[in-house]
Amino acid sequence: LIIGEHGYKHRLLDSRVMPPFITPTRYALSRRIRTRDSDICFSSYPKSGSTWLSYIIFLLTDSASARDTIQSSLIWVESSWTYLRSEAEVEAASEPRVFKSHMPYDMALGGVPAENKGRYIYIARNPKDVVTSYYRFESGKSWTGFYDGGWEHWLGMFVDGKVQRGDWFHHVLSWWEASQRAENILFVKYEDLKRDTTAEIRRIAEFLGKSQLTEERMTEIESKIGFEEMKKDKFSSLGDVKEFNQFFRKGEIGSWKDQFTVRQSEMFDQLCEERMSGSGLHFDYE
Ligand code: A3P
Repeated sequence: LIIGEHGYKHRLLDSRVMPPFITPTRYALSRRIRTRDSDICFSSYPKSGSTWLSYIIFLLTDSASARDTIQSSLIWVESSWTYLRSEAEVEAASEPRVFKSHMPYDMALGGVPAENKGRYIYIARNPKDVVTSYYRFESGKSWTGFYDGGWEHWLGMFVDGKVQRGDWFHHVLSWWEASQRAENILFVKYEDLKRDTTAEIRRIAEFLGKSQLTEERMTEIESKIGFEEMKKDKFSSLGDVKEFNQFFRKGEIGSWKDQFTVRQSEMFDQLCEERMSGSGLHFDYE
């Protein structure tokens, strides 16, 4: 375990920065999972809308009602924390098994997603909102060692890929590139889901083989996954863990504007230009 400036805790796994609760044993288990045709595995860099996506998946596959909450329904193999399940429980979980992960493509659940059975969905969000949301979420939390370094310091760590979960650019681009080649990987953007909710839910439904869903059911699903609705919903509540309260913070595009200075914003734009040009991947920032 590494304890850096401001008490910031992380672990190195395959030379990558990870939170302390991603243990080598759990990670090894996540890599050797043999996925099945019915499996749905979603991944994201933290704070990119993964809880939102997971609820959409549970609703589309009609598995939200039969189970308790998002937290108890998800299988998050690499984590040794509250979502812990044994290998036997992972095997025996009811189908479709819905796997959560925050790993980059080369550390993904099940080895090499493009060669696996099952469907993978990756959700990405513009990095200015990600680093802002991540800062609000991680400051003062037990798993970060109650980090109190402040925004400027956080931004510097994010840019250097030193926050838990490491380099955002590598994470997102690794999945983006894989999704361009593999039919079993769907790449979703938070901003599209926010702006074009109906069309994006249809795209996800189609990918999951659920395009036969009625208009009525689609409207019902859409009414449940709005920010305010999800915040109140029993299924999407994240249980008793108080530290989770910021899973529903603002739910908007562009809240980075309350956080970045003009100079920081210009520096960040320049960085995005350098790291992402030629990738064909673009984000909306407002
Ligand atoms: P903000 O902190 O910007 O509000 P994750 O689930 O991957 O940790 O992502 C959390 C982010 O998704 C938070 O962003 C949260 O508010 C936002 N979010 C959660 N549910 C949402 C919803 N139904 N609609 C829009 N945004 C949502």
